[in-house]
Amino acid sequence: MNFMAIKKLRKKTISKKPKKARKIKRRGRPRLAKTTKTVKTGSLKLLRGMQDILPQKQVYWEYLIGRAEKLAKAYGFSKIDTPLLEDSRLFKRSIGSTSDIVMKEMFTFVDRGGYEVALRPEMTASIARAYIEQGMVTLTQPVKLYYFGPMFRHERPQAGRFRQFHQFGLEVIGSPLPVIDAQIILFSHALFQDLGVKVDIQVNSLGCSVCRAEYKRNLLAYLRKKKQSLCSNCQKRLKRNPLRILDCKEDRCQSVAAIAPQIVDYLCDECKNHFIKVLEYLDGLAMPYTLNPRVVRGLDYYTKTIFEVWPSYTKATEGTALTEKIQEKPGSQSALGGGGRYDGLIENLGGTPTPACGLAFGIERIIAEIKKQKVRVSPKERPPQIFLSQLGEVARKKALKLFEDLRVAGVKVAEALAKSSLKTQLEVANKLKVKFTLILGQKEVLDKTIILRDMTTGNQETVDFDKVIAEVKKRL
Ligand code: HAM
Repeated sequence: MNFMAIKKLRKKTISKKPKKARKIKRRGRPRLAKTTKTVKTGSLKLLRGMQDILPQKQVYWEYLIGRAEKLAKAYGFSKIDTPLLEDSRLFKRSIGSTSDIVMKEMFTFVDRGGYEVALRPEMTASIARAYIEQGMVTLTQPVKLYYFGPMFRHERPQAGRFRQFHQFGLEVIGSPLPVIDAQIILFSHALFQDLGVKVDIQVNSLGCSVCRAEYKRNLLAYLRKKKQSLCSNCQKRLKRNPLRILDCKEDRCQSVAAIAPQIVDYLCDECKNHFIKVLEYLDGLAMPYTLNPRVVRGLDYYTKTIFEVWPSYTKATEGTALTEKIQEKPGSQSALGGGGRYDGLIENLGGTPTPACGLAFGIERIIAEIKKQKVRVSPKERPPQIFLSQLGEVARKKALKLFEDLRVAGVKVAEALAKSSLKTQLEVANKLKVKFTLILGQKEVLDKTIILRDMTTGNQETVDFDKVIAEVKKRL
């Protein structure tokens, strides 16, 4: 699609305000206030399902994101960022209006301009929009993109399930070849191997819109007969989204799903050949995976290959046949990631037909697994070697500059510029277990000297201020 056509499409989709939005605008904002809940004064707290990522947790984030980014670059991916807020119709049209995400979980609101916007619940749709809007079709295909950032879903919070969470993801846009699906799955295997986290990769195919429709008819006929055995949520899903019944975590629904018709028996020739090719590539890599006909994913845009990465609860059986025995699925909130092919999405959003495939991992869930599997993350930051203390305002000013000079000279130095008492500062130095403490008082400032205290022996000597950096480096 050329630039003008994209502009036209934007005009058509964006200049017209959604009816509901205009209505809200005319009636004015107070109506919103009626249903707005506020926290009591004095109890401002984190919103439900949100979390602070404190400094002591950052080591895990750096370990995971650092390795994932390095690997993505090694596989030839480039980074993309997109806005947190999008036109809410983007997600309705791509993820599917009957999906749980769109029906129950989107953070949607009317902005001050009267437009209905949504905090992104995932990034594949945003990237597909950007691919069309930024004319990425003119780049060498396939375009390989990776991303990392926060996503928002208004789910019922529980372990491993947040309302703001983070994903690391990959998208390969512009190739229909099964080798791409295999490489995306291989990336998952490589990343978790690199992280030292044991996982099982569950693979399935959802076919195309034609063979899936035939499968859905047969599945529905089977499920209708079992309606009374299903949980109340799945009874509703019978109308809305019968495929999701297959991955319901309720025991009663799992028993029904265990003997349900399987999609692989309904794949058309093209989808079947595509799937067999993907599996042949995976077998050629001697990479463990499990064929699981009950993996269906929760987003409507998927076609053909889909997969999920689960923490390794039981040993995964290497899958080579379509009828492989499947492993019990752990709780829904424990999938560490998932993805698949989405050949119709870009066309559905107004672009030229463009096949694509991708994945996303849930960062919080992987970090929880890193901790659970007791993986040793990167060594801690090098501790400070010396501590710089000061007494009095003039000394503090000089210490501010000396800290800078020591740091630039490559000395790992700590300070407590906000403290005035020498006793408190020496206590901090003791806690940090530094070898030396530099003490700069008013007398030393006048004499152009500084005290160097050996923290093990307690010995102190006076050093020429201008030579202190060289002196410190000599002794460390
Ligand atoms: P998804 O399965 O919806 O797929 O999300 C991917 C991963 O994000 C999940 O496996 C899980 O680890 C994490 N996740 C999802 N919801 C939450 C939550 N409420 N709290 C914590 N973690 C969560 C997608 O988002 C697709 N866009 C993946 C994809 C990319 N398909 C093709 N390309």
